[in-house]
Amino acid sequence: MNLRMTKASILGFFCLVAFAAFASSASSDDLQDTSQPRVVRAAGETPTILTHYDQADLEAGRMKLKDIISQGRMLFDARCNSLDGQGRPAATGNGTPTKRDRANNPGFIRTSGTDANSCAGCHNQPFSGGGGDFVANVFVLAQVRDPIVTSVDAEFSNERNTLGMNGSGAIEMLAREMSVDLIAIRTDAAQQAASQGTNVTSKLLTKGVSFGQITARPDGTFDTSGVEGVDADLVIKPFHQKGVVVSLREFTNNAYNHHHGMQSVERFGAARTGTNDFDEDGVVDELTVGDITAATIFQAAMGAPGVVMPTDRTLRDSVARGETTFSQIGCAECHVPELRLVSTTYSEANPFNPPGNLRPIDMVNPITFDLTRDTLGPNLERAPGGGAIVRAFTDLKRHTIWDAEDPYFNNERLVQGGVPTGQFLTRKLWDVGNSAPYGHRGDLTTMTEAILHHAGEGRPSREAFEALSTSQRADVIEFLKTMQALPDGSPRVITDADLAKIYKRIRTAARFLTK
Ligand code: HEC
Ligand code: HEC
Repeated sequence: MNLRMTKASILGFFCLVAFAAFASSASSDDLQDTSQPRVVRAAGETPTILTHYDQADLEAGRMKLKDIISQGRMLFDARCNSLDGQGRPAATGNGTPTKRDRANNPGFIRTSGTDANSCAGCHNQPFSGGGGDFVANVFVLAQVRDPIVTSVDAEFSNERNTLGMNGSGAIEMLAREMSVDLIAIRTDAAQQAASQGTNVTSKLLTKGVSFGQITARPDGTFDTSGVEGVDADLVIKPFHQKGVVVSLREFTNNAYNHHHGMQSVERFGAARTGTNDFDEDGVVDELTVGDITAATIFQAAMGAPGVVMPTDRTLRDSVARGETTFSQIGCAECHVPELRLVSTTYSEANPFNPPGNLRPIDMVNPITFDLTRDTLGPNLERAPGGGAIVRAFTDLKRHTIWDAEDPYFNNERLVQGGVPTGQFLTRKLWDVGNSAPYGHRGDLTTMTEAILHHAGEGRPSREAFEALSTSQRADVIEFLKTMQALPDGSPRVITDADLAKIYKRIRTAARFLTK
């Protein structure tokens, strides 16, 4: 066990204990979430992070997946201090290494950051790695300002609510497979255009989701004006509610600098910036490549959300009716109930990573695990003919869901990643039952409010929802409530009664521990 355990990691550990006797997939091995190397520390103040991972060890297979996940969880929960390198006196929170005058260093500040002590400071509902309360919102793009801004006005930043990473390994792999498909369609169109000497227009369809169309010209150029819901490069970026970050790794490199002033070697190190202390806080090489791999693998291996079924017969019938209605009124057109992964393997690193993030070409061996077998649980379901089923209720596509009559979801003013301010990725609904508050700003307290603000492309289904009877609406909500992020080791489908028992055990354990 690492010497330094945060409350969240203790909770995580007890989830595993609580589930060991219970989850069919759990073996006694799962109990040993304690595999950090023994660390002998000096007396007195020390860094919070006492172990750093060497990427070469990971690629040589010298660390078990369990160890890597433990290191990642520890890094995610660690409340970094100045001895770790917390703070960035001479650097802004920009993901692109950017210097600032040390005179402009505000230390901790809620707007531009550094704004939190640990990742889990925001990502903690229902457990570490999950979503966050309104109070954990981030003022996105304030971090790139120099000097910093103290105002939270929409003029200066886009305020966003914290998302949960449960199941995000599957989301990243879906996006990769879909990007590969779209790029193959483009390549094929280009070859046809060249050989026929005419323009060739192809539909951009992957896993049943349409991203519009692309026209290849015989001269090798493209008309991308018909491309919808994805950038013209056809690379699906599934992270940020805006859909502007390609991988968990890229997000992690950004977030450590933005929120904590902890700079990773692969992004801020000497090879890219000419110095190993870019933020000039006196601590060099704050996070190794291996650390970023571990933090990424922890998030990728978090269990996918599952289904909590009411034991009450009347409520179960309501859920069943609600699921049907959800599709009938058009919600499933964007919130796609299931997408299939061809491969069940999660593989680090992502080939679409931009420079400043580890890529497969920088590696001897990828770090891999099976999303249907090796996650913290629930694992993904295997698909009958091979591959895996991902019930995320998203199409990983950006949509405009506001119009002049209801501009609620068009509140932002700053363009991020070149995407129009009124477009957002279809929100994953697989954790919607326990990820309140709602909407990209987290300023809606019920699901109904979020549904009744769908406009623009979402207007037909919203009007169909409005036209339902009170009890039919209740059915849809009852169905949405079943989709929840679950404790580690849980089966994918669980009754509310069984889940309540688990939560009670976890709470009892936590009370005992915090005494
Ligand atoms: C101050 C609160 C806060 C802290 C601290 C924080 N996050 Fe986040 N995180 C957010 C918010 C808010 C979002 C949603 C951002 C958006 O949609 O633009 C988010 C989104 C993410 C996502 C993308 C999830 C998705 O599905 O799009 C990842 C990955 C992530 N955070 C990882 C981290 C890591 C790793 C750390 C620690 C290094 C961290 N976060 C620290 C608030 C925080
Ligand atoms: C045109 C695509 C589209 C359709 C159709 C659609 N949605 Fe959405 N939905 C979105 C997008 C995009 C968001 C993200 C909104 C935001 O926060 O900016 C969203 C968000 C939500 C949320 C908020 C989730 C959260 O955690 O904040 C709920 C609930 C929801 N949708 C339910 C529904 C239901 C029920 C229907 C059918 C009546 C529906 N949606 C139809 C695209 C769609």
